Amino acid sequence: MKIINVAIDGPAGAGKSTIARAASKELGYIYIDTGALYRTVGLNAVRLGVDIHNDDAVISTLTDELCVELKFVDGEQRMFLNGEDVSTAIRTPEASMAASRVSAVPAVRKYLFDLQKNLAKSNNCIMDGRDIGTVVLPDADVKIFLTASPEARATRRYKELLEKGMDASYEEVLADMIKRDYDDSHRAIAPLKQADDAVLCDTSELTLEESVKLVIDTIKIGISK
Ligand code: DC
Repeated sequence: MKIINVAIDGPAGAGKSTIARAASKELGYIYIDTGALYRTVGLNAVRLGVDIHNDDAVISTLTDELCVELKFVDGEQRMFLNGEDVSTAIRTPEASMAASRVSAVPAVRKYLFDLQKNLAKSNNCIMDGRDIGTVVLPDADVKIFLTASPEARATRRYKELLEKGMDASYEEVLADMIKRDYDDSHRAIAPLKQADDAVLCDTSELTLEESVKLVIDTIKIGISK
């Protein structure tokens, strides 16, 4: 049976993981969140106490002893670092920062490349990230570039923060979003950009349910071609 690979890329805050997870469930595919891999490498560097702003120091953490594993437990992705389940630990702001930093180191991207490739080779999957359609799975059956305006993404993030009882200002969240977009799309290695053959899905004006439907419909049309 042919394996189906779907690549979903897009900027931070576009709802990629929520939408990709819901679409995967509906289609019976596995959902692979590649950001979690960068987060695990970042967490490892933080735990080892190396200077994450120094490329050589980050590279020195990619030893033979380092074991980054992505497993599925009850259908949900879990991340293991040297045998320890770090799925929760990789979600802290510190781990986010470290992930962002180590993801700009070419050796880290190379280190995680085969792992991502191998997962896609043997599973019908939706893989989300920043460079899936352009670098990791250039031959994916369907490629989606999922985005929304900075204002729409900032509004969603702002509401999430308020719901979590955190103090936030909309202007700051928006400014942060615009800066992150700029950094992600201008970095020297694997910059965020839409693959030429990706379908653009803009969810600025859509609810979550409508966004999930748009993505599922786009995948169904893509795989029927
Ligand atoms: O999607 P996320 O926020 O969990 O990703 C964490 C970091 O990893 C983020 O700074 C972008 C980076 N990343 C990447 O460079 N390439 C990917 N395929 C996925 C994530």
